[in-house]
Amino acid sequence: MDEKGPLDIGEDEGARLLTAAVDLVVRHAKDVAGGPVAPPETGTAWLRDWLAGQDFETAGRPEHTLREVMAALRRWGVHTTHPRYFGLFNPTPTWWGVAGELLAAGVNPQLAAYSHAPAAVEMERHVLRFMAARLGLPATTEGSFTVGGAEANLTAVIVALTRRFPSYPGTGTYGLPRRPVFYASAESHLAWLKIAHMTGIGREAVRLVPVDAAHRMDTGRLREMVEADRAADRDPFLLAATAGTTAGGAVDPLPELAGLAAEWGLHFHVDAAWAGAIALSDSLRPLLAGVERADSVTVDAHKWMSAPMGAGMLLTPHGTALAESFRATTSYMPAETDGAPDPYATSVQWSRRFAGLKVFLALAMAGRPAYAAQIERDVRLGELLARRLQEEGWRRVNDTVLPVVCVAAPEAEAGGAESSAAWHDAVADEVVRGGQAWISTVRLAGRPAIRLCLTSHRTRVEDVEAVVSALGDARKRNPVGYA
Ligand SMILES: Cc1ncc(COP(=O)(O)O)c(C=O)c1O
Repeated sequence: MDEKGPLDIGEDEGARLLTAAVDLVVRHAKDVAGGPVAPPETGTAWLRDWLAGQDFETAGRPEHTLREVMAALRRWGVHTTHPRYFGLFNPTPTWWGVAGELLAAGVNPQLAAYSHAPAAVEMERHVLRFMAARLGLPATTEGSFTVGGAEANLTAVIVALTRRFPSYPGTGTYGLPRRPVFYASAESHLAWLKIAHMTGIGREAVRLVPVDAAHRMDTGRLREMVEADRAADRDPFLLAATAGTTAGGAVDPLPELAGLAAEWGLHFHVDAAWAGAIALSDSLRPLLAGVERADSVTVDAHKWMSAPMGAGMLLTPHGTALAESFRATTSYMPAETDGAPDPYATSVQWSRRFAGLKVFLALAMAGRPAYAAQIERDVRLGELLARRLQEEGWRRVNDTVLPVVCVAAPEAEAGGAESSAAWHDAVADEVVRGGQAWISTVRLAGRPAIRLCLTSHRTRVEDVEAVVSALGDARKRNPVGYA
């Protein structure tokens, strides 16, 4: 058994493979802007045939296989790294972030137990504390990297339940005298429903509070709902504000909500999955005022911080509740080191990859001011996009400083919500099928609109002009009332 194991291809061949992969990724980055953002639907027959040939019984030719995989990814998928992807917060990753992924995969530290990977755990904690400080949270803030915003929000609900109901860790919802309920705005990210399902409190525990004209949680309605729930013997335990709603970028009134949560004894969570990145900019950070009073905060580095997926962050000043929420001891896990928290016992995951490295490297290599400048630039491009669309006769239907622009065509709105939705869907679909840009449709408080969000740090003024013109062309080709 002295000879190499069958999977050990050696460093030289490994280097050739990685070089080939790097070449393909760099070529993709160079070429992607010249092609369609969403390649036209060509059927998946080729893809299925190719996969049928992959029976894994024979060894493939490495470079050939890499090229085939890349070709499939390029042909069947929306290119979120395209500068004209005006999409769902999926960023073009920075090169620092991509390098971080490579190092994390190659060294493959196991971050479950602190003692297995002190360097990696400390680098993650360093980033988490940096973000906490930028958000104005206490210096004692703890947290963890998550796969994304949904896992971070799940963590927040578990911590909130654990803080509020001492019996929850032992007997779950079974031991509770009243039904727990929590509040988020009707424009919040609806992973809340899945989270309520997973935590055993049930989807009906999520109270979706109507929004005001600017799509922010209506605090008057919130008060009525909390009072009605209390009168009906339900037990409010959490108020989840959103800073940067998914559809329209609204920021709930955080200072007022922080005050109400304190008055009612609720855990105050701020879901800043996307807009939390503005904490890196001194000029934009005041938009998040109130977040410093949060009991927990979600920020996704894989959204506006341009980290490759998945990199969410959950921050909380309640380290004790975090440890109580996820406590676990086993004989086979390495012993705790000097009181340093073991990530497996303070978070949802057990085995844990080094998700924070890509964020650490990007911040260390670019520096916070570069991030601030990028985010401020995106905001200016968003303003330009909104202005240009309004000049072309589109009606803006969201109200935010953040670079997400929702517009509707007045002539389509005149016919009522259902025909307006169908028209906006058709126009957005035509732009996407034309390959010039990726945009989507939403309903903002029920009102159909086209949504365009700046998500790529490669987007320039010419890309903004291109999407405005593509939308104008699609609008002309779809006159309202023409059947
Ligand atoms: C405000 C908000 N919260 C949570 C999420 C969920 O994040 P993820 O998809 O990373 O789990 C999103 C996703 O877009 C979001 O916009």
